[in-house]
Amino acid sequence: MDWGDIVGVVDAVGEDVPPSRLGDEVMVYGGISCGDCEYCLAGEHTMCYEYEIIGEDRPGGLAEYVIVPADNVDPKPASLSWETAAALPGAFTTAYRMVVTVGDLKPAETALILGASGGVGHAALQFAEMLGATVYATTSTAVKAERVRQWADEVMDYTEVDFAKVAMDLPDGRRVDLVADHIGEETWQQSINSLGMGGRMVICGATSGPDPDIDIRSVYQHHRQILGAPMGSRQDFRDTVALAARGAVEPAIDRVLPLSELAEGHRAIENREVFGKIVIDPSR
Ligand SMILES: NC(=O)c1ccc[n+]([C@@H]2O[C@H](COP(=O)([O-])OP(=O)(O)OC[C@H]3O[C@@H](n4cnc5c(N)ncnc54)[C@H](OP(=O)(O)O)[C@@H]3O)[C@@H](O)[C@H]2O)c1
Ligand SMILES: [Zn+2]
Repeated sequence: MDWGDIVGVVDAVGEDVPPSRLGDEVMVYGGISCGDCEYCLAGEHTMCYEYEIIGEDRPGGLAEYVIVPADNVDPKPASLSWETAAALPGAFTTAYRMVVTVGDLKPAETALILGASGGVGHAALQFAEMLGATVYATTSTAVKAERVRQWADEVMDYTEVDFAKVAMDLPDGRRVDLVADHIGEETWQQSINSLGMGGRMVICGATSGPDPDIDIRSVYQHHRQILGAPMGSRQDFRDTVALAARGAVEPAIDRVLPLSELAEGHRAIENREVFGKIVIDPSR
């Protein structure tokens, strides 16, 4: 349920866009960038100094109609339902960026995915599993853990166990090579401590707050790296959609609500009752 997660049918086009695109079923890439700076030319749109997010910096998708640049529009694969397509863009593209593009997770490596019941978390988990890595996950209740288990080798309820301790004592001498943390200040130190020598922490959010109290020696003395992965590039988006179209990953859709029940969706997210994504369908 992101302001920037938009799918729909083209209802009108601008002067430079062929009218033949009217009626197209499309998905929208949520980032807008200048198109000619060094980063845009390198395909790294989220690094553009003029980068904007549809739904944050300009009106977004929680509406019946939205105006977006034609360049941001891709065809919706026929194999994806509207709901599945709507649940993909932000969370899955960001997770792809974290685990695949930036995290560079390898099949022989071990990953630890935090907040595995959330939008980004359950997506990161699926990409890590898809790559063939050994995957550990954290979540907060037994009910969520049961669902997370379908994509993870081991699930930890972090309200019951110290996940960093478990991570430092894995069987067969394994070490966590990559931790995906979108939780923020509550978990940063534990996430860093979970990593083996030279391990990577990929980050995309600060849900619990942006000011972690950490010991920086726990980073440099173990050759660990902290890597930012906010959203994904246009190519990350296309790769993500292509993988979903062939069923390699699939969003868990907790519920579909009409626009009039948007507040109920926010309430459920704030109370952490949601598994995966909420989709808003303005046509209901
Ligand atoms: N969705 C996107 O498109 C996107 C893109 C870029 C960045 N981000 C950022 O990534 C973060 C996660 O986004 P999301 O869409 O995945 O959110 P979400 O669906 O609400 O998931 C957040 C998950 O974090 C876990 N959690 C652990 N500690 C928490 C705490 N103190 N408060 C709330 N949740 C806590 C919960 O899972 P458990 O109960 O399993 O622990 C919860 O399900 C946010 O900071 C967001 O700004 C999101
Ligand atoms: Zn640019």
